[in-house]
Amino acid sequence: MKLWGGRFEGQTDEAMERLGASLDVDWRLYEVDIRGSMAYARALSKVGILTTVECSEINEGLERILEEFRSDSFVVSPGDEDVHTAVERRLHELIGEVAGKLHTGRSRNDQVATDTRMYLSKQIVLLRGGLRSAQRAVVIQAGNHLDVIMPGYTHGQPAQPVLFAHWLLSYFWMLQRDVERLDELAERVSVSPLGAGALAGNAFGVDRAELARELGFAGISANSIDAVSDRDFIVEFLSWAALLGVHLSRLAADLVLWSSAEYGFVEIDEAYSTGSSIMPQKRNPDSMELVRGKAGRLIGNLMTVLATLKGLPASYNRDLQEDKPPLFDAIDTLFLILPVVVGVVETLRIRPERMRMALGDGMLATDLADYLVRRGVPFRESHRIVGEAIRRAEAANTSLRELALAEYQAISDAFSQDLYDVFNFERSVRSKNVPGGTAPSVVRKQLALARGILDGNSENTRQ
Ligand code: ARG
Repeated sequence: MKLWGGRFEGQTDEAMERLGASLDVDWRLYEVDIRGSMAYARALSKVGILTTVECSEINEGLERILEEFRSDSFVVSPGDEDVHTAVERRLHELIGEVAGKLHTGRSRNDQVATDTRMYLSKQIVLLRGGLRSAQRAVVIQAGNHLDVIMPGYTHGQPAQPVLFAHWLLSYFWMLQRDVERLDELAERVSVSPLGAGALAGNAFGVDRAELARELGFAGISANSIDAVSDRDFIVEFLSWAALLGVHLSRLAADLVLWSSAEYGFVEIDEAYSTGSSIMPQKRNPDSMELVRGKAGRLIGNLMTVLATLKGLPASYNRDLQEDKPPLFDAIDTLFLILPVVVGVVETLRIRPERMRMALGDGMLATDLADYLVRRGVPFRESHRIVGEAIRRAEAANTSLRELALAEYQAISDAFSQDLYDVFNFERSVRSKNVPGGTAPSVVRKQLALARGILDGNSENTRQ
């Protein structure tokens, strides 16, 4: 049975059937599809297309089909091209001819767009929860290690000392922007296309606004042609997912590097590590490498949909069926990696002594230049003076801290004995006390701000 068999005499080629089939991908829309059909049946009965009895027959049939899907007893039939066809075919088997009235004024074009938006809206709520868990794990680890100082890097080179908590919290803010972006795009997902029909609208006067409300949408689309062709909401979501993937891959990159024997700043728990089949000593951070790797896949999904949409004429085109594999893959991928990221951060062991060992006096060179600035030396000049001190220390095979006062004073008379106070990593981080800096006093405030957001006490950030 084909939904469109009437005007055809011949059979569809078997290869064409295979190309067109999407049930293996879109079956997961069964629940939203059935809920949408139930609401649509009620809308049809309100405009007199279905009698109350017919409407209940259809709804009871649909309820049974929902049960069959849920209990895994739904039997797919060879002609079930997609989930919409499968449900309609089964409804016909269960309640007979009256099933044929359900599709009045509705097309699979507005149906599939409605289903996809409903499904995505539900997933967004769950994904938001996953993001919040990751943020919570970050905040707990940062709060537990507020006094740990580590080398901060730029260009991968030792730069200046920072608090470990400060570094970790940088990921809180990346994730916070991801939450905010998700909230914004969720509004644009929650627009109902139902009632757009194939492309021109619905000729039976169904109440689109009520349908939308009933299905949990925040609003309805303003143009039926746009309604069936718009996949911007998928592009936005995939772009969001790709960027989240990028953030997580950067966290992963840091943790892979820092858990290496050479750094040893952190230890990834055994639960998230694997061994080598040949090298017995190995403990590999596969969890983080896989998270980093999945970012490529998330970016690829965005590219797939953009490439599908590029150059498509307005309205529904069958190419649009290609939107769901990348969309579902992105959702599945995020549900795969988010719990691992949460687990890795929660169980991460921090090794302050290794971080301390990696701190060198060179990382205080800027502090030494700042010392001269406070004594009236222009910064460019003090930069040059400290550079010379470093050269002298290197030539004498010693460190800045060990270099004699006479040597310093030979370069500049702005130096005096108290220059040695600079060689103190605690003092260095304490001095960076502007808002957003790494001083413990302001990192504490940053942490409070982050906690406030998670507890819902922050005014300027949505909960
Ligand atoms: N499986 C199709 C999709 O995902 C449903 C819409 C098909 N519409 C049509 N006119 N063939 O896009």
